[in-house]
Amino acid sequence: MGPIRFILLTLLLCSSQCLGQEAPPAVTLVNVKTRNETHIELEWTKVNNINTYALKSSDEPETPITGLDGNTVTHTVSSLSAGTKYSFTLFTVLEELRSTGFEFPAVTAPPAVTLVIVKTRSETDIELEWTKVSDINPYTYILKRTGGTDTPIPGPAGNKVTHTVSSLSAGTEYSFTLFTVFEDARSTGHDFSEVTGMFPMFTKPFNDLAKGKRTGREKQIKIILCYGPDISVS
Ligand SMILES: *[C@@H]1O[C@H](CO)[C@@H](O)[C@H](O)[C@H]1NC(C)=O
Repeated sequence: MGPIRFILLTLLLCSSQCLGQEAPPAVTLVNVKTRNETHIELEWTKVNNINTYALKSSDEPETPITGLDGNTVTHTVSSLSAGTKYSFTLFTVLEELRSTGFEFPAVTAPPAVTLVIVKTRSETDIELEWTKVSDINPYTYILKRTGGTDTPIPGPAGNKVTHTVSSLSAGTEYSFTLFTVFEDARSTGHDFSEVTGMFPMFTKPFNDLAKGKRTGREKQIKIILCYGPDISVS
């Protein structure tokens, strides 16, 4: 090998490190700042005050990202599918050099339930039912009672989810918010209100009455004492 060739080869092999440039460090943590069904907003702290990054997501082409002023960089990934887990790789970019990739997963919010019906109702219990938002993904649900606690509800086999809220007071309106949950992501909340049945102390006399011949007037009284859309009078 001649001296010229040797010098060229050495220059090629030693690349930029011989010229005093080292690959920049990788980001070590990426947070999901906000998310919905189609977008994930990512945020990370700048490395060595570097403003340029590249984000790779599965089969998508790489996206160059330039940070603004300040210590953090935010970037929103769009056109995503609801309730889906995506894998990302983030590189710190410094001129021609890039860090090793920092890999992380992030999920989009799952779809929300749009309708909850009351299957049965008593003075103390309300049995709720809704259709699962997906047959494929094993979502769970969270039912929040306004002013109360969050109740996690598994998505069982089959198409419907039923859940009974108990220990309620008679003749009272309760407000709820139902969320679909996928990993650490919640859907938007579906808000609804329902009332418990009323006046349990009047049930017995009316049941006794029901054994005999009932008049139109008795039926009328019962309608007044009990309310709620599902309470039928026969
Ligand atoms: C999701 O969030 C983005 C902003 O990050 C917004 O532009 C978009 O309208 C939101 N989509 C829904 C369905 O709320």
